[in-house]
Amino acid sequence: MKKNNLIVCRCEDITWPEIEDLIKKGFTLEEIKKLTRCGMGYCQGRTCFNILIRLLKITNQNLIPKKRPPLKPMVIKEIVSYFENEKQL
Ligand code: FES
Repeated sequence: MKKNNLIVCRCEDITWPEIEDLIKKGFTLEEIKKLTRCGMGYCQGRTCFNILIRLLKITNQNLIPKKRPPLKPMVIKEIVSYFENEKQL
């Protein structure tokens, strides 16, 4: 398979050359997500986020975020509950 045909994000129809171009221009992961909507489609990045991270590792380690987003969508109530319980400890 040629690199030009590789789909990174099938929900938003983003290809490897599009991502590669943004990485070469020095955009960070968050900027790439905002520009392409990669990881923001129907599956919320379950398919493409790991691919995107791997591509960033291949090209530039400095663009990888230190914090990881939740793997599954979370209800705000759960997040609030987590921080409330943390305060009580
Ligand atoms: S494959 Fe990228 S958001 Fe679903």
